[in-house]
Amino acid sequence: MEVVIVPAPDDAAVLVADVIGRALATVEATVIGLATGSSPLGAYRELVARCRRGEISFAAADAVLLDEYLGLPAEHPEAYRTFIRRELTDLVDLDPTRLHGPEVTCGDVPALCARYEALLARLGGVDVQLLGIGADGHIGFNEPGSSLGSRTRLKTLTAETRRDNARFFASLDEVPHHVITQGLATIGDARHVLLVATGAAKAGPIARAVEGPLTAMCPASVLQLHPHATVVVDEAAAAHLQHAAYYRSVYAGKPDWQAL
Ligand code: GLP
Repeated sequence: MEVVIVPAPDDAAVLVADVIGRALATVEATVIGLATGSSPLGAYRELVARCRRGEISFAAADAVLLDEYLGLPAEHPEAYRTFIRRELTDLVDLDPTRLHGPEVTCGDVPALCARYEALLARLGGVDVQLLGIGADGHIGFNEPGSSLGSRTRLKTLTAETRRDNARFFASLDEVPHHVITQGLATIGDARHVLLVATGAAKAGPIARAVEGPLTAMCPASVLQLHPHATVVVDEAAAAHLQHAAYYRSVYAGKPDWQAL
C-alpha cells in the first residue's frame, strides 16, 4: 500500500480529485467506484467544482456504488443512491442511467447480488474505487469477520456501525439492520483502490488496516494484498502509524507524485 499523509482534510480532497480526474481523462469509458459516508465529501465537492469549470467530465463514465441499505424507501435521503446523487452525480455531467448500485427493491437477495456482480463484470471492472473506513475497520459494509474472499451479498450491520451511522437518521431505530455490499474480493477487483480517512477517530482503524495483521477482524487490512492501493490520510488520521516518517519520505521523494 502506498500511504500518503497530507496536512489537512482539504488536501486529501484535492489529491483524491486528482486521481479520479486523471482516470476520467486517460481511461476510455472510465468506471469510478463511489463511496458514501462523510470521508469522500470533500473530494466530491472538489470534483463538482472542477466539472463546473470544465476541467473534468463524467460524460463518458459509469459510476458504481459499493453498498446500499435494505429496507429504506428509494426516495429516503439516506438511501445511498439518493446520497450519491445529491452529493455528486446530479451535480456533474454523469448520464443518470450510468449510475449503478445494488437494486434492493426485489426480494430475491441472492439473485440481485449476482446481478450486481454481473453488471460490474459487464462494465469491465472498476478503474478507481474510492473507499472510506469504518471505526471497526470495515470497507463498504464488510463488517469484522467478513470473508476476505467475499462477493456482493447481504450483511447485517454491527451495533457499532448502526450507532455510528445514526447521526444521519432521526433516531437509532431508523438505521437499517441489513445492507447489500460489494464483498472484499469484489472491491479488490478494482484496478486502483483509493482509501481516504481524516480525523483522529480514524487513527486506530487506519493503523490496524495499514500496519496490523491481515485479518478478517479488520476487513480493510485485505487491501495489504492489493497490487495498487493508496491510502490518503490527514495528520490526525495518521497519528497512530508507526512508519509515518517512512511514508512521508517515500511520498516526498517520488519523482512524479501525481502518479499515485
Ligand atoms: C459507512 C459506509 C462506508 C464508509 C463508512 C465510514 O459505513 N458504508 O463506505 O466508509 O460509513 O463513514 P464516514 O466516512 O462517515 O466515517
